[in-house]
Amino acid sequence: MGQPSVLLDVHDLSVRFRAGGRSVYAVNGVGFTVDRGERRGIAGESGSGKSVTCRALLGLLPSNANAPGGSARFAGTDLLDPRQLDQCKIRGRRIGYVFQDSRSALDPYLPVGNQLIELAAVHGVAAAQRRDVALEWLERVGIHDAPSRLMSYPHEFSGGMCQRIGIAMALLPGPELLIADEPTSDVDVTTQRRLIELIERLCAEESLSLVLVSHDLGVIGRLCDTVSVLYGGLVVEQGPCQAVLSTPIHPYTAGLIASVPRVSAGDARVRGIPGGQPTLSAPPAGCPFAPRCDLHEPGCDAALPPLVAVASDRAVRCPVVAREPYPRFGGAQR
Ligand SMILES: Nc1ncnc2c1ncn2[C@@H]1O[C@H](COP(=O)(O)OP(=O)(O)OP(=O)(O)O)[C@@H](O)[C@H]1O
Ligand code: SF4
Ligand SMILES: [Mg+2]
Repeated sequence: MGQPSVLLDVHDLSVRFRAGGRSVYAVNGVGFTVDRGERRGIAGESGSGKSVTCRALLGLLPSNANAPGGSARFAGTDLLDPRQLDQCKIRGRRIGYVFQDSRSALDPYLPVGNQLIELAAVHGVAAAQRRDVALEWLERVGIHDAPSRLMSYPHEFSGGMCQRIGIAMALLPGPELLIADEPTSDVDVTTQRRLIELIERLCAEESLSLVLVSHDLGVIGRLCDTVSVLYGGLVVEQGPCQAVLSTPIHPYTAGLIASVPRVSAGDARVRGIPGGQPTLSAPPAGCPFAPRCDLHEPGCDAALPPLVAVASDRAVRCPVVAREPYPRFGGAQR
């Protein structure tokens, strides 16, 4: 019998922080799956809970976070259950993580080659082969003249090169899933394009599944098969990437897509969605998008809308649009 197709199954994930004497309900029941070979994008505005979701899976939440609620099964092991000792064999081994700012994730006092060699040692590479493995990975992520860069320190590399080294560190242990949190947000457009091509190529070469966090829908559209759109720590819409981006159903997704400046259409104005992310000092009682929504009805405030399937592969957290045949916002082509 072959392996089950679902590699990661996140269900009802919740994370709360204690900050300044009050609670912050950052993630309020996020759920999504990642099949083997699938590339899932996680989209949403700043503060929607993208990073906290990923960090909860990796056990990287800060000390003021509560123990996350819900479950996150990776190949059958619940990453959130402290009794499951297999977790430490999964995080950093079977799941690789690329930080938004890889330079800050590297040790500034150690040449990058030594960092890769140490990592190879931790992951059981024989002493005689560690330098070769470090060199191979520097070359695979496109660091030119790798032998002469092996002893360079992180500050001697550009931001884009540090991201490449961060990708090498994440992939050296041979993970099955790569989680990349805004891996291209701090670099210029040309470097961004090259990093996207690199991630795309390495995903194919290593048969990787991917969770890619980005507020940039263009990056998600280029790299991902499926997308989950987060708002106020909740998934408000998910489905196949191209379908969601071309015919969004949830008013928030439609607003996000309409906010992308389209220079080619001769209109580079930044529109944005009026209003801001909800303050998360309590779990959402009604629809968290209600204060910003043109389609708001009195019933929207009564209870948190459930995420309901509107097709076999699409779900939306809005009863108002879900009761209509979609696409409601079909004109929002990118
Ligand atoms: N250590 C913390 N203490 C208190 N609140 C926090 C902490 N870390 C994150 N939060 C809050 O949790 C919410 C979600 O944050 P998160 O970092 O996941 O957002 P994000 O979607 O990744 O945003 P961005 O696009 O800016 O990276 C925000 O309201 C944030 O202020
Ligand atoms: S539930 Fe109501 S307020 Fe929320 S997105 Fe739908 S129409 Fe808008
Ligand atoms: Mg973030």
